[in-house]
Amino acid sequence: MKDIYILAIESSCDETSMAIVKNGSTIESFTVLTQMDTHAEFGGVVPEIASRMHTENITLVLEDVLKKSNVTLKEIDAIAVTYAPGLLGSLLVGIEFAKTLSLVYKKPLIAVHHTIGHIYANALEQKLQFPLLAMVVSGGHTDLILMEEDYKFKILGSTLDDAIGECYDKVARILGLKYPGGPNVEKMALKGKPTYEMPKPVNDSSYNFSFSGLKSHIINFVHNEHQRGHEICKEDLACSFQVTAIDEVVRKVELALKNIEVEQLIIAGGVAASGYLREEMKKVADKYQVPVSIPDMKYCTDNAAMIGAAAYPLFLQNKFVDFTLNAKSQAPIVEK
Ligand code: KG4
Ligand code: ZN
Repeated sequence: MKDIYILAIESSCDETSMAIVKNGSTIESFTVLTQMDTHAEFGGVVPEIASRMHTENITLVLEDVLKKSNVTLKEIDAIAVTYAPGLLGSLLVGIEFAKTLSLVYKKPLIAVHHTIGHIYANALEQKLQFPLLAMVVSGGHTDLILMEEDYKFKILGSTLDDAIGECYDKVARILGLKYPGGPNVEKMALKGKPTYEMPKPVNDSSYNFSFSGLKSHIINFVHNEHQRGHEICKEDLACSFQVTAIDEVVRKVELALKNIEVEQLIIAGGVAASGYLREEMKKVADKYQVPVSIPDMKYCTDNAAMIGAAAYPLFLQNKFVDFTLNAKSQAPIVEK
């Protein structure tokens, strides 16, 4: 079969990214332009600024990704774009750009769900082995998913309230750390010990998660200690939070590995960049002798390479979309 080249576009939040991906697994060329420093000044992503910056950057990103590639736009087989979930204005910039390229160069258009993209980031490293267990830990999701084949998802459990990344970002704020919170909490936690007592998130045998109790506990604790004039060791608090949040995710993965036979465990989403989570997941996978896949750090957070990987099975199944494609701020992985 001839090689298939997909030009993928990701603009769902504060990264403008494009990649040319061969056969869903080999990155021919990759560019990501982050707006992180701009949003850091405001303590989080400002949607209006994000979409304006995507508009300024998107053509430059295309120019760059083509410059780094031996493949021309004419030789591309399809254009893939993230359609959901994410910031509407940001998504729309990528979608309209993708539609225009598709129209002008007469290439089929593929719509990719962002979270499915995070899962398929693992296909950039090695072939996915089904059935597999996917643990998605991002700013918007905490989902434990069973995949029996490409695009066949069964959600075993999800967060009942906050996503783990969202919780990291809120705790970062309380600790006076800059956006993006996750990596900064991790850096601080590295200097501390898990000395503070934390409430256990969901202490049951379901595959669901809950992080709002942990978040509220930390907010109240910091507030109360401040009022009493007590010193807090921020490093120990960051470490205690991180260990509690991640151990809960690992515990649910362990429960699933105990109950369900799978060929592979894959970890997906921004929080998979956490060194502690990576180590703990490797330990639990070793215990159950299941091969584990965690994307390279740069493909854990938002990027277009993962969108190109997730678009490939859709290309093979001729699952193309027309120009009525629109952005969705929310969309389930499994459409009902
Ligand atoms: O997957 P992602 O880039 O965006 C969404 O699709 O939501 O994930 C972003 C989340 C943020 O909450 C960020 O704080 C968190 O991933 N994150 C981390 C680390 N790096 C990013 N959390 C913990 N440790 C990290 N090293
Ligand atoms: Zn993401």
